[in-house]
Amino acid sequence: MKGKVCVVTGATSGIGEVAAIDLARRGARVLIVGRSAERCAATLERVRQAAGGDPSMTESFVADLSSQAEVRRLADEIGKRCDRLDILLNNAGGMFLAREESADGIEMTLALNHLSYFLLTDRLLPLLKAGAAARIVNVASDAHRGGRIDFDDIQLRRNYGGWRAYQQSKLANILFTFELARRLEGTGITANALHPGFVRTRFFQDFTGWVGFIIKLGARVAAIGPEAGARTSIYLATSPEVEGVTGRYFVKCRPVNPSPRSRDRATAERLWRLSEELTGHAAAVR
Ligand SMILES: NC(=O)c1ccc[n+]([C@@H]2O[C@H](COP(=O)([O-])OP(=O)(O)OC[C@H]3O[C@@H](n4cnc5c(N)ncnc54)[C@H](OP(=O)(O)O)[C@@H]3O)[C@@H](O)[C@H]2O)c1
Repeated sequence: MKGKVCVVTGATSGIGEVAAIDLARRGARVLIVGRSAERCAATLERVRQAAGGDPSMTESFVADLSSQAEVRRLADEIGKRCDRLDILLNNAGGMFLAREESADGIEMTLALNHLSYFLLTDRLLPLLKAGAAARIVNVASDAHRGGRIDFDDIQLRRNYGGWRAYQQSKLANILFTFELARRLEGTGITANALHPGFVRTRFFQDFTGWVGFIIKLGARVAAIGPEAGARTSIYLATSPEVEGVTGRYFVKCRPVNPSPRSRDRATAERLWRLSEELTGHAAAVR
């Protein structure tokens, strides 16, 4: 990975932090993104140590990715710090038991988990095109299997459920990845999605009530650690085995079939157009 430039979002915890440290250890220049300056500083220190202490090999960027203005600013800042990008690991995400809205007035799960992947990727595209066979890796989830895109009420104003919103957003990650891969055909850039497994991270820490109790108990008993949880992300970002492989969904470092809904091209195209509308951004990848 020497000479490669990587961006990792959600790098201040869990899967993203393990991936960022691993990429640095392999010799890549790693740009980490987090929403808290304090946590970014702590992670940056760990990533820097993995990079052998060389400060030029790591940098951190603070941005709340649920805000479109922040995503745009982040892409501009990254553009000022490097002239190409080889790996984009879209990993930041969350689940919100009660309905919340982002600074742009968009349902939070959709804003953070899907629209930030969509907007950041497209804004970084010129840098990715300048990279060497750049790879876009989108962290999705097997939670997508029960999900559907509710085009009549994608922001779930009428009937919100945290799990429903999360399933929809993770289905959107896969639909987006596949549509992106189709649109990037011939550019040399690949786009793949993955399920990391049920992973013991800070993801569930704010869950309260009986749902929180059960999930936290389940995580203690059945979840894998963040090192194992980051394995497929790292595999897709680094392995020569997946060079040129694009438009696939991976679990445990193997391509598997995601749900039939996630493979529906008309749904993917419709979601793409809606994502353009919701971000007010005409994608550069056409
Ligand atoms: N854990 C699982 O079992 C599991 C299963 C399937 C898929 N996933 C997916 O894996 C990805 C990583 O999750 P994780 O388990 O590693 O969770 P995590 O430990 O909670 O890490 C999430 C990361 O996203 C960042 N983040 C959250 N909201 C943000 C915002 N508004 N702006 C910018 N960054 C924000 C967090 O920042 P802070 O450090 O500031 O909180 C953190 O760095 C997510 O996309 C999740 O959907 C997880």
